[in-house]
Amino acid sequence: MSPFPFPNAATELAGKVDWLFLGLILISTFYMALIFGPMIYFLFKYRRGKKADRSSIRIHTWKVEVVWTVIPFLMMMGLFGWAADLYYQIERPPADALEAFVVGKQWMWKLQHAEGNREINELHLPLGQTIKLTMTSEDVIHSFFIPAFRIKQDVVPGRYVTEWFRPAKIGTYHLFCAEYCGSDHSLMGGNVIVMKPEDYAAWLVAGAPRDNLAAAGERLFRDLGCSGCHVGSSVMRAPRLEGVYGGPVPLASGDVAIADDQYIRDCILLPASQRVAGYSPLMPTFQGRVSEEQIIQLIAYIRSLASKRPPEEMNK
Ligand code: CUA
Repeated sequence: MSPFPFPNAATELAGKVDWLFLGLILISTFYMALIFGPMIYFLFKYRRGKKADRSSIRIHTWKVEVVWTVIPFLMMMGLFGWAADLYYQIERPPADALEAFVVGKQWMWKLQHAEGNREINELHLPLGQTIKLTMTSEDVIHSFFIPAFRIKQDVVPGRYVTEWFRPAKIGTYHLFCAEYCGSDHSLMGGNVIVMKPEDYAAWLVAGAPRDNLAAAGERLFRDLGCSGCHVGSSVMRAPRLEGVYGGPVPLASGDVAIADDQYIRDCILLPASQRVAGYSPLMPTFQGRVSEEQIIQLIAYIRSLASKRPPEEMNK
């Protein structure tokens, strides 16, 4: 899978990253030899006291220039195309992905599975299944780094980033924080454990969470009082949330937002910033009242409503 005796390339993409790295090294070595070889040769040929022809060049031609410009240009463009193709693969999660959520904080990684299982500094995964991570931080910038998967992604407070991979080997792999984030930065790490699918299923059951993410979000939705306005009585004060996720939302400002994870997060924490057209700015901010993990649960709940339709009488 990997051209190198590198430690554990544990995903298919990791192998591709290694090939690209090998390509870079080979091309760099080729040019280094091309430049340093003649340099060393001339060093001896023209050193002081040597009888060498030092008269100026007699042949003038543009052909040499074209050759040494065009060939390296094409090689570099090839490398660029190769890397860009790989980048697109890395940045676009396939649709069939299993989801997990990552919150970095000083100094630990908090992970939640869609089924509701929660872990700290450990991430259990099934072999061969595509995993999509949605990640954020609740304090400073951290960087989620799994060397065996050749994945390193900064997590930044206030925004979501995604990352995906498909574990191809059973094993336990190191997980690090790769961004200096304070005194215990070096302790901020753990393990990714890739298991046989049947072992993973058993692990999920053994963890036995009370609710999956969406159900936990629904409970929060009631506990925080969101349901009072967003589901509520005959007097509708807030937009219904059924069928909202993933679609366009007309804003009071005249713009149109897409109701993705980031938009919903912003609405919960900064409700005045992207208010839905036709509604008064009545919603209080939940900044400081909900944790990043709870926001993820709320989003999971709203996402679970994506395919539902609001009751007609509520939607006039
Ligand atoms: Cu978190 Cu370094």
